[in-house]
Amino acid sequence: MSNASLQTTTSAPRHVAIIMDGNGRWAESRGLPRIAGHRRGADRVREVVESCPELGVTHLTLFAFSTENWKRPEQEVQGLFRLLRRYIRQESARLVAEGARVRFIGERSRLSRELQALMAGLEEQTADNDRLHLTVAINYGGRDEITRATRRIAAAVKAGELAVEDIGPDTIERYLDTAGLPDPDLVLRTSGEYRVSGFLTWQSVYSEYSFVDVRWPDFTADMFAAEVRGFGRRERRFGAVAG
Ligand code: FPP
Repeated sequence: MSNASLQTTTSAPRHVAIIMDGNGRWAESRGLPRIAGHRRGADRVREVVESCPELGVTHLTLFAFSTENWKRPEQEVQGLFRLLRRYIRQESARLVAEGARVRFIGERSRLSRELQALMAGLEEQTADNDRLHLTVAINYGGRDEITRATRRIAAAVKAGELAVEDIGPDTIERYLDTAGLPDPDLVLRTSGEYRVSGFLTWQSVYSEYSFVDVRWPDFTADMFAAEVRGFGRRERRFGAVAG
């Protein structure tokens, strides 16, 4: 959903999206296998998720695996998927109890049937919750998402369900993986890299960005709270002038 009006923030970002970077370097600097960094990273996910409601963050979106991450060594890719399966199995009861609604974005057909089934099961189990909207991006890329949406829009036009002249930004949003979710107010990237790596390409055009020079496995709930509070001091103009 686009937000094109002037807004000076005095409150928490409603939607925070995080690029959880630095797991590999965290592990390598300790002489550990890269997967050890991802494992510690999953613990940080748990802490940050738990802290959202009291900070006033109602939507949290996490970049867990990009369309480019397949280029990593097979062992690391399989380790990451093992970790994601374990996270879903171990965390589902807690997520239900916390009132989290979990959604996954990204292209699913390349994922194992087992992972796809776990993802669909958790989405179904949490569909009626609304205390925290947790979205996890797996095999996600912004260009890939827009390409898939465009194909579906073209198919709808071809089928006579949609007129070309009726296509506007709202139409495109309805066909994106994130349909129904608000745009992120704040996009955070850890590890000191200044890149956005195709994360929420369409949705983040008016987002505030924060690049934190801490590797994700070292990023604590207190650091997250500080970023959320820092957002409250920013002025968002959405292309307008300050009033
Ligand atoms: C980037 O660090 C991180 C990833 C590609 C994976 C993120 C995954 C997790 C934190 C695991 C669990 C996720 C959930 C949602 C439970 P990197 O490996 O690119 O680090 P580097 O830049 O130091 O190599």
